[in-house]
Amino acid sequence: MRRYLIAANWKMHGSLEMVHKFAESFDQDVDLGADVVLFPPAVYLNAMQGLTSKFVQSGAQDLGVALQGAHTGEIAASMIKDVGCSWVIVGHSERRNDQGESDALVAQKFASAIAADLRPIVCVGETLAQRDAGGAFAVVSKQLRAIIDLCGVSVLVKGAIAYEPLWAIGTGLTATPEQAGQMHASIRELIAVLDKDTAKATRIIYGGSVNPENAGLMFAQEEIDGALVGGASLQAHSFAAIIAAL
Ligand code: 13P
Repeated sequence: MRRYLIAANWKMHGSLEMVHKFAESFDQDVDLGADVVLFPPAVYLNAMQGLTSKFVQSGAQDLGVALQGAHTGEIAASMIKDVGCSWVIVGHSERRNDQGESDALVAQKFASAIAADLRPIVCVGETLAQRDAGGAFAVVSKQLRAIIDLCGVSVLVKGAIAYEPLWAIGTGLTATPEQAGQMHASIRELIAVLDKDTAKATRIIYGGSVNPENAGLMFAQEEIDGALVGGASLQAHSFAAIIAAL
């Protein structure tokens, strides 16, 4: 059985005040039935951790691949681990686009996370043009292959895969549960060809305009093991409602 994973990616949103408000109104005194992970901007991790319970985990939105050294602005995997995080996001499409991160660099980031005993969530997904041209799975499989080629297939269970079609991010346009379910099934099949046990155990979550209204339909898909939530995770009540949809 794969345990659900519900993650809040705050991206570059928030403030200390927002962290306090969120934590105060987020009911977290019981096991929420899923791995619940918060990804505020790195500078707010400490504050968030101080206000959340043992049922809530935290992570960073990115990492630098170097172990340490003269890399201004970068944060090493070991540092993320050091401050009590268990997770890290790698290869979000906003970083692939804005910072020009290649599949090869994202694979290195995945490897760095694993080496530091962090659990990486790798984001994959296609643009609308790529989907319209029938190339959605080719794009996603190339992104995953880069990781499998560098790290091997079995490490995938230590992290998770987030399928985030670019056209569904922040647009209010969600993939239909069937579209998402199909892509998740294809991803699982790609892994199964290499290692059936890994395919069965690896969590594949969906991201892209997930909200309290559509979350239940997504989670009803057998292949969807949770969600990576952007906008709707900024307020405790809507993020909690998404968890409740489980
Ligand atoms: P939205 O939920 O705002 O569409 O963002 C999705 C996302 O990119 C999560 O990483």
